[in-house]
Amino acid sequence: MKVLLVGGGGREHAIVWKLAQSSKIEKIYCAPGNAGIAEIAQCVNIGVMEFDKLIAFVKENGIDFTIIGMDDPLVGGIVDAFEKEGLKVFGPRANAAIIEGSKSFSKDLMKKYGIPTAKYEVFDNYKDAEAYVEKQDMPIVIKADGLALGKGVIICNTKEEAFAALNEIMIDKKFGNSGNTVVIEEFLTGQEVSVLSFCDGKTVVPMVSAQDHKRALDFDKGLNTGGMGTFSPSRIYTKEVAAKCMEEIFVPTVAAMANEGRPFVGILYFGLMLTEKGMKVIEYNARFGDPETQVILPRLKTDLLEIMEACVEGRLNEINIEWSDNAAVCVVLASGGYPESYEKGYEITGLDEIKKRGDIIVFHAGTSLKDGKFVTNGGRVLGITGIGPNLDAAIRTAYEGVEIVNFEKKHFRHDIGIK
Ligand code: AMP
Ligand code: GLY
Repeated sequence: MKVLLVGGGGREHAIVWKLAQSSKIEKIYCAPGNAGIAEIAQCVNIGVMEFDKLIAFVKENGIDFTIIGMDDPLVGGIVDAFEKEGLKVFGPRANAAIIEGSKSFSKDLMKKYGIPTAKYEVFDNYKDAEAYVEKQDMPIVIKADGLALGKGVIICNTKEEAFAALNEIMIDKKFGNSGNTVVIEEFLTGQEVSVLSFCDGKTVVPMVSAQDHKRALDFDKGLNTGGMGTFSPSRIYTKEVAAKCMEEIFVPTVAAMANEGRPFVGILYFGLMLTEKGMKVIEYNARFGDPETQVILPRLKTDLLEIMEACVEGRLNEINIEWSDNAAVCVVLASGGYPESYEKGYEITGLDEIKKRGDIIVFHAGTSLKDGKFVTNGGRVLGITGIGPNLDAAIRTAYEGVEIVNFEKKHFRHDIGIK
């Protein structure tokens, strides 16, 4: 089979890396891909929102199956566009991807179906939002309704901060139309865990758990980022917790979406927080997590394409999905200054040496090729995934990899996996 993956970050590199192990695949394309992905797939210079061009490319090249990695095209209806042309595509339609695309939609869904989440109110008018904040205890969480590159959530410790956040989102339109509506939410505390799942519209099969590190600096200091590292499995996600989540969150969510006439087919990502009152949903995503995927897929033993085909064909219940018992830790190497301003174009060394290691995988996020050499080309540059028999061993392995790969102003966290 010929397969096209739409996206071009570390997550997509991990998906391509896993697909490349499938005996069913003869060729993998990736649009737009990146310099690391180009080592194992043919990169195609088409943007993720250029649906017509992607569809034409799929038809011209006889591609059998397309996988959508990113949120923007999913929320924008890429799956609907492909299906209209009779093409096989993996991911939720726009009417289901809205579970990530609109926070007020997902909160209202959880309220209607009794799925545990933080208490909240929705506002599309600044004055009402301000009046509501005035009466609340702090801290409080203010969220732009729509997609905002992971930056639309503001935790406010004082009322002044909350008014400023409302102003930024609703009046200054810092996140554009994503901020026409806001969700104002109760502040919860507890450890966070990401559980991604395969869904075929009816059946939901959770993957192994992972934990992300969103802040830029050690011990969760510094600004929020797209993710500075991950580990799998999570220590807090025990068998008992998993069983409770299955019963109270995963199955009810997929059933709720089906009941609303929005069957969810694809990867449903549950962002969870273990609070004193049990597990609550912090957010849903309609796709693989980045950098969660870089620790989850290395632990998957089953052919990924077979699982995805089963999802699209509504027969996920027939597939036996197997995971290895080992642990994986991914340390992100970023450009100094990220998530604010940073420089690009620095040569990356050590990539050939690290390939000799069977227990380390390097996933490229923001790299490009210049005169035959890999150079930095983004805020997050590489993810170094170490595999080991347990978390401590995987941490050691990942950090050995971090020492091997170098570039000017390399920045990483030293505490990935020790939570
Ligand atoms: P999100 O973009 O929804 O993933 O939110 C980003 C981060 O904000 C989450 O990973 C949490 O760490 C934090 N967050 C979101 N909602 C809440 C909440 N109700 N209480 C505390 N922290 C939250
Ligand atoms: N790692 C968080 C996300 O992918 O949204």
